[in-house]
Amino acid sequence: MSETVNNSVAEKQSEREQFVTNIALESFEDSPNERLKEIMQSLTKHLHDFAREVRLTEDEWNAGIKFLTDAGHITTGTRQEFVLLSDVLGVSMQTIAINNEAYENATEATVFGPFFVENAPEIDNGGDMAFGAKGQPCWVEGTVKDTDGNPLPGARIEVWECDEDGFYDVQYDDGRTATRAHLFADENGEYRFWGLTPVPYPIPYDGPVGKMLDAVGRSPMRASHLHFMVSAPEKHTLVTHIFVNGCEYLKRDSVFGVKPSLIKDFEQQTANTPTPDGRELDRDWARARFDIVLPPAK
Ligand code: BEZ
Ligand code: FE
Repeated sequence: MSETVNNSVAEKQSEREQFVTNIALESFEDSPNERLKEIMQSLTKHLHDFAREVRLTEDEWNAGIKFLTDAGHITTGTRQEFVLLSDVLGVSMQTIAINNEAYENATEATVFGPFFVENAPEIDNGGDMAFGAKGQPCWVEGTVKDTDGNPLPGARIEVWECDEDGFYDVQYDDGRTATRAHLFADENGEYRFWGLTPVPYPIPYDGPVGKMLDAVGRSPMRASHLHFMVSAPEKHTLVTHIFVNGCEYLKRDSVFGVKPSLIKDFEQQTANTPTPDGRELDRDWARARFDIVLPPAK
């Protein structure tokens, strides 16, 4: 008897919860925009399922609202806490995976990050994108080709990275421009430049996302990397990085950006080893190769 009562109470509870979900979903039925309707109904359904699955308490719901409010307060034109949240939840990388479908031998994409700046200075092929920033000099070279192996002369290559202290130029408040540039592949689709050997650095962790990572015992560190954005006419623009083989954070990159195909050997060279362009270096340096393959534009 009591089991029947319990069952009916549980059923009633489940019906009540499902009722709320149903009317929330129905509220989007008349949307004039079919795609928006699809997205909002799916989001609503998953959020309701989530709340029911974890049996979300009102205190926890309030904590979630406070978290989002704090994220809003710290967000500015140059600090985007919601993108950071998307990054550490793996949603950015999932969206990138969906929108950069595997295509033959095309180079894999990875997360864009918040530190790209439009109109970075142009350097000649073989030039130096460090602009005097602190760090170990690193020679980077490779080719840009299409998926049939044809070189893409004139392909535009944007590169950016942090300095030896783990900071991008935009994180300093003195207005400097360093460790970023663009250059163009030569008539054979080849490119080369001097940069810095990448080092690991933390994503901005002085806000709610950093607090959340701390609370769950996660590190804010990113595996050492050098960013690339590569474009050519009629080709899909590639946003990616290369990662340093052997970096201790490769398996626990805070934004899940690492793909095995993007891990490269940064070969250490001792001081005074002849450099590819004859530059004299009386300190250790490194060199890496990254051959890039662009798929056709959709
Ligand atoms: C970055 O690599 O620059 C980056 C990516 C995601 C979040 C923060 C930084
Ligand atoms: Fe980065």
